[in-house]
Amino acid sequence: MFDTFLTRKLKIKYPIFQAPMAGGPTTPELVAAVSNAGGLGNLGAGYLTPEQIRNTIHKIRELTDRPFGVNLFVLDQPEESEENTIENMSKHLSFYRHELGIPQPPLPQKYAESFEEQVQAVLEERVSVFSFTFGIPSPDVIQSMKERGTLVIGTATTVDEAIQLEASGADAIVAQGSEAGGHRGTFLKSAPNSMIGLMALVPQMVDHVSVPVIASGGIMDGRGLAASLALGASAVQMGTAFLACTESGAHPAYKEKVLSASEDATEVTRAYSGKAARGIQTKFMSDMLLYPGEIPAYPIQHAMTKDIRQASAKANNPEYMSLWAGQGLRLAKDQSAASIINETIDQARKAYH
Ligand SMILES: Cc1cc2nc3c(=O)[nH]c(=O)nc-3n(C[C@H](O)[C@H](O)[C@H](O)COP(=O)(O)O)c2cc1C
Repeated sequence: MFDTFLTRKLKIKYPIFQAPMAGGPTTPELVAAVSNAGGLGNLGAGYLTPEQIRNTIHKIRELTDRPFGVNLFVLDQPEESEENTIENMSKHLSFYRHELGIPQPPLPQKYAESFEEQVQAVLEERVSVFSFTFGIPSPDVIQSMKERGTLVIGTATTVDEAIQLEASGADAIVAQGSEAGGHRGTFLKSAPNSMIGLMALVPQMVDHVSVPVIASGGIMDGRGLAASLALGASAVQMGTAFLACTESGAHPAYKEKVLSASEDATEVTRAYSGKAARGIQTKFMSDMLLYPGEIPAYPIQHAMTKDIRQASAKANNPEYMSLWAGQGLRLAKDQSAASIINETIDQARKAYH
């Protein structure tokens, strides 16, 4: 039952992908542990410099000789925001800086790493899988990855996005359900108009594209894996399930929240980054609901809140940190990545009998 097009293509034992999680959780240890246990580890490299991408890939390779993936955010140009939108937000954020005892920094000179340079680093390293979210890279990028033997995987939150990804040459598609933790990969319609539950999304996507579909969002154990395979998925991609595991680089206060929160604890917010993302509710998120102005677009807001999120983490105060997580929270466990994979497989086998 675990033999799918993707397990054969990637030469992995189990159709379990650990979700790329940019911002720290997907350490080289986590990626390698998942791949060594028979799944596919994925590095969330969206916020890394090209140099950091190369170094992290080298570290992963010291820990495993199994296939793994690298994931980037598709960003051609940072979206523009009005100058006064940025200035007003900067003034608003000074309240949090005051509370955390940190100085007001100058406005960021650059809002995100160069996607082209990040791609170059991934190309040179010839990894097994390149995945992406937030859009579709240029045909050159997709073609160059394929020429190097890299499997290309895009992210879709609707069937129309999946159809566009397939037409652009993607080899497989992550179906990101509305339950999913982290940023929404939506790129065609607005995020609120693209919140489709995974149970509805997977079979419709499977019917409309001919490439394999990877189910993602709220899958925490073998029941979710068995259900996804029954819906026609060729693999699952699990994020929140690995957030609190031993090898995850998530901050201890974040892990504690993940282990103690329930299914109704998350909300989709633009407060931290300017792009819709699902995370455990915090004071920062509820405060921002009352902000009368406009939130700058992604990645401007992300860059503008960076020092606040970092100072909050340093102070062990989760209320101003982004605690991205999906709706499967009650099923999160603090154990090794290998035991999560093994238990998921055992449970899926039982669920099928
Ligand atoms: C902390 C966190 C960070 C994430 N970062 C990324 C990322 O860098 N790239 C990406 O494609 N998806 C990212 N995601 C989304 C995952 O790929 C996936 O869709 C999601 O984790 C599935 O839902 P689940 O968390 O309920 O398993 C992130 C998710 C979380 C929870």
